[in-house]
Amino acid sequence: MVFESNLLCKIIGFSHLISNQLYKSKYLTIFKRLGNHSVIALIALIVIGGATRVMEAGLACPDWPLCYGSFLPLNHMNLRVFLEWFHRLDAFLVGILILFKFTLSIIWKNEIPNWLPKTYSLLLFLVIVQGSFGALTVINLLDSYTVTGHLLIAFLLLITTISINQNLENDEIEEPLIWWKLLLFVPLLLTLIQSFIGVRLSSTWSAHICLSFNKQCLILNTHKLFAFPITFSILLIIAAATYKRSLLTENWKYISTLIFLLFSQIVLGVLSLKTNLNEPIFIIAHQLNASLFIATLTTLIFRNPLRKKSLNHSLNSQMVGINS
Ligand code: HEM
Repeated sequence: MVFESNLLCKIIGFSHLISNQLYKSKYLTIFKRLGNHSVIALIALIVIGGATRVMEAGLACPDWPLCYGSFLPLNHMNLRVFLEWFHRLDAFLVGILILFKFTLSIIWKNEIPNWLPKTYSLLLFLVIVQGSFGALTVINLLDSYTVTGHLLIAFLLLITTISINQNLENDEIEEPLIWWKLLLFVPLLLTLIQSFIGVRLSSTWSAHICLSFNKQCLILNTHKLFAFPITFSILLIIAAATYKRSLLTENWKYISTLIFLLFSQIVLGVLSLKTNLNEPIFIIAHQLNASLFIATLTTLIFRNPLRKKSLNHSLNSQMVGINS
C-alpha cells in the first residue's frame, strides 16, 4: 500500500514536471522562433550593407535617420537611394525585433531562464551602438574606422543572437567539451580579425589603389596571407573531429558547411581580384559568405557537441529516477 502511494506520488510529480516543462517550453519556442528570424534579418542586413558600400550608395541619403527628410523618399528614388534607404529600414526592423524580444523577456521573466533578459539587454545595447555607428558613417562621410566598427558590431550582433538561440536549444542537457569549443573559437577570432582587415581594405580603397597603381598593397597582401592561418585552424578542427569520431558523426553537417564556405570565400576573393573589383556580385557574395562562415562557426561553438548521447543520458537518468 505504501509502495503504491509512493509510486502514485512519483507519477503525479513527474507529470506535473512534464506539464510545467511544456508550459515553459511554449515561451522558449516563441523566443527560438524570434531568434531564427533575427539571424536571417541580420545576415540580410549585412549583405545589403555590403551592396550599399559596393554600389557607393553609403551617402545616397544625405541626412539621418530620415532620407531626404522623408520616411519614404519617392521623389529621389534610384538604385543607390533605394539600397541605403532599404538598409536603414531593415536595421530599424532588426532594432524593433530585438526590442520586442527584450520586452517579452521582461514580461515573462518568471517563466524563462534568468540569463535570457540579461542577454537580450546586451543585444539591445549592441543594436543602439550599431545604430549610432550607422549615423556616424554618414556624419563622418564614410570614415574607414567607423565603417569597420559598423561591420564588426554587426558580426557581434550575429554571434550573440546565434549563441542565445543555441543556448535555448541546449536546454540543460549539455555535455560541454570545453577543449572543442576553444578549438572552434580560434577560427572565429581569426575570421573576425580577417574581416577587420577586409573592411579596412575596402573602406580605404586600398585594394583598388593596389591593383591600379601597385601602391598601398600591404593591407591586401596581409588579407590574402591571413587566409592561411584560418585554413590551418579549420584543418585542425577536421583532424580533431576525425580523431574523436562521435564529434564528426554529430557535427558533420556543420563541419562540411565550414569547409565549403572557406573554399568559396577564397574563390570569391580571388575572383574579385581577377575581375579588378569590377563585378559587385563577387564582392557582395564575399561579404555574405563571410557572415555565413561566422554564423556556422558560432553555431558549432554554442551547440551541444554530442547532443544525442547526452539526450539519451538525460532520458536514462529520468527513467532511473522513476524506477527507483
Ligand atoms: C578566408 C577568409 C576571408 C574572410 C573571412 C574575408 C572577409 C572579408 C571581408 C569581411 C571583407 C570586407 C567586405 C566589404 O567591405 O565589402 C573582405 C574584403 C576583401 N577581400 Fe576578403 N576575406 C577572406 C579571404 C580573402 C581572400 C583569400 C582574398 C583574395 C585572394 C580576399 C580578397 C578580398 C578583397 C579584394 C576585398 C576588398 C573588396 C573591396 O575593396 O571592395 N579575401 N574580405
